[in-house]
Amino acid sequence: MLMRLTLSVIKADVGSVGGHTQPSSLMMATVIGEAAQAVDKGLLIDSFVCHTGDDIAIIMTHTKGEGSAAVHQFAWNTFLAATSVAKTSGLYGAGQDLLVDAPSGNIRGAGPAVAELSFNHSLSDSRPAESFMVFAADKCGPGAYNLPLYLAFADPMYCAGLMLPPMIKGFRFHVIDMDHTAGDSIIELDAPADGYHIAALLRDNERFGIDRIVSRTYDEVVVAVSAQRLHAIAGKYTGKDDPVAIVRNQGIFPAPEEIVSPFAKAHFVGGDARGSHVMPLMPVPLNTPVTGMYCLPIVSCAGFSIDKDGRFSESHTDFFDNPAWDEVRRRAQSKAIEMRSQGWSGAAMLPYSELEYGGFRDTVSGLLKRFRLREERKPEAAE
Ligand code: 13P
Ligand code: MG
Ligand code: MG
Repeated sequence: MLMRLTLSVIKADVGSVGGHTQPSSLMMATVIGEAAQAVDKGLLIDSFVCHTGDDIAIIMTHTKGEGSAAVHQFAWNTFLAATSVAKTSGLYGAGQDLLVDAPSGNIRGAGPAVAELSFNHSLSDSRPAESFMVFAADKCGPGAYNLPLYLAFADPMYCAGLMLPPMIKGFRFHVIDMDHTAGDSIIELDAPADGYHIAALLRDNERFGIDRIVSRTYDEVVVAVSAQRLHAIAGKYTGKDDPVAIVRNQGIFPAPEEIVSPFAKAHFVGGDARGSHVMPLMPVPLNTPVTGMYCLPIVSCAGFSIDKDGRFSESHTDFFDNPAWDEVRRRAQSKAIEMRSQGWSGAAMLPYSELEYGGFRDTVSGLLKRFRLREERKPEAAE
């Protein structure tokens, strides 16, 4: 049977216990309950709920298509229900990512991170089994996946599978200019031919982000990323952007190990405390709270298979919950200690334009007003 299946991941930070660490168990139970009801009512085929730091992710399959008002409104109302639990319990940052009042229809741009992709789910010869991964990051800037996804989909040093016939034509990168807030401004570039152009954009994690990646051989969407800047939307500090990504894997696409291996770098991204530092991205198991020293950017990765009816396998894979990643976590922590020993100086903190706390800018603009030209060095008045 052929079905047009949509995978939607919608994630939001709507409150947390003891500071910005993790949602409460009652908040999680509320979201899980709402998602189960949406499945019972037939809105969703299946759902899975987890958290990364203080962000709750709802992972869904359905046939309503991308940007479906019904699916988006379900997610919004569910986050409102979790917000009200957070408010009742006096939790920190209740409703933080719900930036607008009652958005109608599609909630992209309203605060929560949204990644969606659709495909013909027929379990055919070219795709005899469907499997995918969901990355979710917390305390983290919007372009955190730029480098790892570039390496997995454009560099055979990381993904030797790119040299195989189904992938050798490469992948098309849709790159979004996140400074453009009135609508999505996208450029499409083909790897490997445009590889250097892609890199020239993706090196700027704060402005440009991968929006999606498409197989050039099969014209199938393989990656969808939520690439948006919350503070650009809200015009004020709102917490970090904390992106999510859906990545299909195996067969005509890279294998899971080829997709996760670039995360072994624990590369430096914007984020961390007050969304204002440059710190390494630490891969962590699902449902990890943010409790370490500093406030490290973290990323989790869940894997699923999908049966012929669009339902998730009865169990999932937690990719970063493996001793292999302990070594990376240790390295991330030691990179973090090194970087933070530099405190506020230079590369250790984000440039002023990217500081998520506008207050830092206010401090400096207050000082700028007090600068005076020295009397003895004043330029001669024009004659
Ligand atoms: P979150 O909003 O992602 O929790 O991050 C806030 C922050 O700036 C941490 O210091
Ligand atoms: Mg938070
Ligand atoms: Mg968060």
